[in-house]
Amino acid sequence: MCGIFGYKGISSDATNIVLNGLKKLEYRGYDSWGFASFQEGKIKIKKEIGRIPNYSTDFTSHLSIGHTRWATHGQVTANNAHPHTSKDKKVVAVHNGIIENVSELVEKYKLEKETETDSEIIPLLINHFMDEGYSFVNATKKACLQFNGSYAIALINKDSEELIAVKMGSPIILGIGENEFLLSSDIPALLEHTNKVVYLEDKDFVHINKHISISKIDSETKIIPDIKTISWNADSAEKEGYDHFMLKEIFQQPSSIRKTLDGLVENGFPSLNLKKIHLEDFKRITILGCGTSWHSGLVGKFLIESLARIPVDVEYASEFRYRNPIIDKDTLILAISQSGETADTLAALREAKRRGASVLSICNVVESSIARESDDILYTRAGPEIGVASTKAFTTQVTMLYLLTAQLVLKNKSLSENKVKEMIVDIKKIPELIELVLKEEKNIKVLANKLSKKNNALYLGRGIQFPIALEGALKLKEVSYIHAEGYPAAEMKHGPIALIDKNMPCVVIATKDILTYDKILSNIQEIKARGGEVIAIGTKGDFKLKELVDDIIYVPETRYSLTPLLSIIPLQILSYHVALLRSCDIDKPRNLAKSVTVE
Ligand code: AGP
Repeated sequence: MCGIFGYKGISSDATNIVLNGLKKLEYRGYDSWGFASFQEGKIKIKKEIGRIPNYSTDFTSHLSIGHTRWATHGQVTANNAHPHTSKDKKVVAVHNGIIENVSELVEKYKLEKETETDSEIIPLLINHFMDEGYSFVNATKKACLQFNGSYAIALINKDSEELIAVKMGSPIILGIGENEFLLSSDIPALLEHTNKVVYLEDKDFVHINKHISISKIDSETKIIPDIKTISWNADSAEKEGYDHFMLKEIFQQPSSIRKTLDGLVENGFPSLNLKKIHLEDFKRITILGCGTSWHSGLVGKFLIESLARIPVDVEYASEFRYRNPIIDKDTLILAISQSGETADTLAALREAKRRGASVLSICNVVESSIARESDDILYTRAGPEIGVASTKAFTTQVTMLYLLTAQLVLKNKSLSENKVKEMIVDIKKIPELIELVLKEEKNIKVLANKLSKKNNALYLGRGIQFPIALEGALKLKEVSYIHAEGYPAAEMKHGPIALIDKNMPCVVIATKDILTYDKILSNIQEIKARGGEVIAIGTKGDFKLKELVDDIIYVPETRYSLTPLLSIIPLQILSYHVALLRSCDIDKPRNLAKSVTVE
């Protein structure tokens, strides 16, 4: 998704500060970039397609805004890159989001666009109102009230060198430094300058001139900013010696799970400290999510239904809101989102609330839009996840879902208190068991060598391992561009088995369990009988499985409901090393964005 970075302050190196900020936003995904810097009436604008080079400029400036563009409207060209300006270059703007009523506004105000983008309407309309005599501030407010859609905007008046930021639906954060102000699409890019931030709310209007003032686009009333101090340091958002953020985040999972568990267990029982949501009020749960967060939701369904005996639906957020969903007061909506900014999930959450539902969310980013619009929030404490491919977000989401399940079991008395205590004892052991799996990296690299030469792969699992097959396949396709499909193993014989030959490797999660282990051994034999190659994820010591397959990675034994937290680890490492061998851009895969803030 697009990234915004802005600076106004005491430093005369504003342009390089902004360029460095944009490079920290690269992980969000982009295809072009640009900046505009100002100094005593002079303006320097640069816009290019492709990656930001190690560019630095000697253009001194105290005021600059920059943008990384992930094309939504208009081709990937330098002309369509941001910043966009009014004809006289008096108003200069960068934008994240989508303005949906551009053609009506062009028609109504007889404006002339020069680019294919929706964003250009912003400086054009503001300048139009300034020509009618409105001040820069009031012209901007008037224009914003005309826009339909989502936007986070940073804009500058070239003559007065005023800086304005507006938030509506897309993220933008205000950083407050020593005699300097910064704007950014996310926290990590701010951390080397300040850890004092204001999470802007929808309709917030920030005006920075000699002083700063915050109001709403539809009001003059000044708002006292709620300044938060971020505990993350700049290093935690850096690679810390790993070649890629993805590998660092895979290896951070034991500590991320420990941090997520911290403070949520009391006297051996789950203690989620929900403020507004009373779990006993609900008879069913609808989980909303996208991508990896949808996969963790599937694990959650298995956990909650099998242990707490509460019916659970898991919905693609993008589908849910257009399905005229049946929501009533007995339904608890559970929105899962690492970034807390995914537009599809946010829109689905708003639709559910409009229909009267209560919303609990699981997010990794504090004060993100989804977190702020939920009735209650459970924060995973994975720390910033920079790699586009979610890894520690997934395992900390599953951890939180497991704790929620234990809490629901207690409420529903579907198992004894002792059983719940045993559940908690077992999840506390998971970080050290993951550490054992991480030690398998060398063996997994050997398998990556084989898989990296293939163009397709099937990932198969049953029961609680079916979502892991989906997640493992998503990891592989996201970072290595190999087409991979996740399937319930039993579904093989209903079609996919036609694909089996020596060129279709099958990754089968066949950890030992009383429910489906024998069945999945049969599925493996069906594959082998047709010349297929099988890489298995198995339970340590399962030599019977080893005899049946071509390659095996073992994971330690644990209770069935916790096996997903172990079986996903080798699949994350496998996809990382396959992508490395294929020289893919692992942290910033092509076409992908870390936070999909457009629908
Ligand atoms: C997963 O590796 C992808 N990055 C993507 O599917 C992601 O899970 C999805 O876009 C949802 O993001 P969220 O968790 O921030 O809402």
